[in-house]
Amino acid sequence: MFAGKKILVGVTGGIAAYKAAEVVSRLRKLNIEVHVAMTKSAAEFIAPLTLQSLSANPVYVDLFDEPKLWNVEHIALAEHVDAVIVAPATANILAKMATGIADDFLSTVLLATRAPIYAAPAMNHAMYHHPATQENLTRLKERGIKIIGPGTGFQACGTEGDGRMSEAVEIVETITQLFSKSECLKGKRALVTAGGTQEPLDPVRYLGNRSSGRMGYAVAQALQEAGAETILVSAPTDLPAPHGVSRMSVQTALEMYDAVLANFPNMDVIVKAAAVADYRPATRAEQKIKKDGTNRTIELVPNPDILAELGRRKTSQVLIGFAAETENLLVNAQEKMHRKNVNLLVANDVTKPGAGFGSPTNTVSFLFPDGRRIDFPQMSKLEVARNLVGEIANLLGDCNKGVK
Ligand code: PMT
Repeated sequence: MFAGKKILVGVTGGIAAYKAAEVVSRLRKLNIEVHVAMTKSAAEFIAPLTLQSLSANPVYVDLFDEPKLWNVEHIALAEHVDAVIVAPATANILAKMATGIADDFLSTVLLATRAPIYAAPAMNHAMYHHPATQENLTRLKERGIKIIGPGTGFQACGTEGDGRMSEAVEIVETITQLFSKSECLKGKRALVTAGGTQEPLDPVRYLGNRSSGRMGYAVAQALQEAGAETILVSAPTDLPAPHGVSRMSVQTALEMYDAVLANFPNMDVIVKAAAVADYRPATRAEQKIKKDGTNRTIELVPNPDILAELGRRKTSQVLIGFAAETENLLVNAQEKMHRKNVNLLVANDVTKPGAGFGSPTNTVSFLFPDGRRIDFPQMSKLEVARNLVGEIANLLGDCNKGVK
């Protein structure tokens, strides 16, 4: 079932490093291709040769080792694998991950990869509860990194409490769940729009909005993780395309309209997370508009409503809209859901702290045409996206349990 899947196990320097051997062994028994990267301190706790023998692959320790397989190994490995699990994850590696430090092979791969990352913390109880570690864990979760455990019990330092690395069996089950879910939308084609369109006034100015693209990119990542062949139609953003997702870049609402409509007939799922300009300037000056001290008026003409057009043309596709509201969230969102004929509408009050434009988190409600509503607490945009993909799987009726 898991043949063809590739995992990188990152091992860092703690007493629980010996348990990494069981993680590697269990993954291999499932026919998963396993690669191992260790920190130098991990290599003090467990011999690289042990993990090399169990994984049947060379083990990476030093960034400047002789290349084993590829030229720029840390980048090649980062792109090669379907998931990364750091087990055990010390307080040190969690701090490096949270702040983007890349000073050895493993931390460099962790920064370079776009594959889903899991971490199984293992450390002394007091270190685990230190505010610095807790803040790092919160930051990592917000970025969509899945934290497994830690467990509670007797610790090697003689204390009792939480901080023990989760058992290998639990770690492997959590990761293989990801791959089982991957089968759920396999064979389905999905299109996601993201970012804020830009409507030019002249060669240097445009009318835009505050969308960073994060929400739409997270949805594209979650759909791809669930096995859907995913296209991202993206307005300008600073974000890299998620692993395995093909991106079409557009600038204006009209360009987005053309890109979405051209692909629509071949899609099973469309998610419109983009913030599309409702209006564009009636004219675009050929040259930069000069200031002359007088008042100016910009004439605006309406853009097509892409989502409403898809709602009119929809046959078997699952169509998901978003509603960015600043007042009367549910009433306005419900009106949009019916008018645009979507199967599910994600409503977000963009005036709430930690929600809407730009933030790594969002607070949303899912509204369904049959009157059902699911309210979520504040969570990372990737968690919102994974919940959304669960509902999409249910709407497609292909997966009994969805992919949450
Ligand atoms: O990108 P981030 O910084 O992560 O922020 C996320 C977000 C706030 C942009 C996102 O969560 C969100 O709410 N996206 C929809 C923004 C929006 O344009 O909402 P709206 O209520 O104006 O539009 C409703 C729906 O119609 C949306 O699905 C929109 O894509 C679509 N629409 C709107 C206008 C238009 N001309 N064509 C459209 O397709």
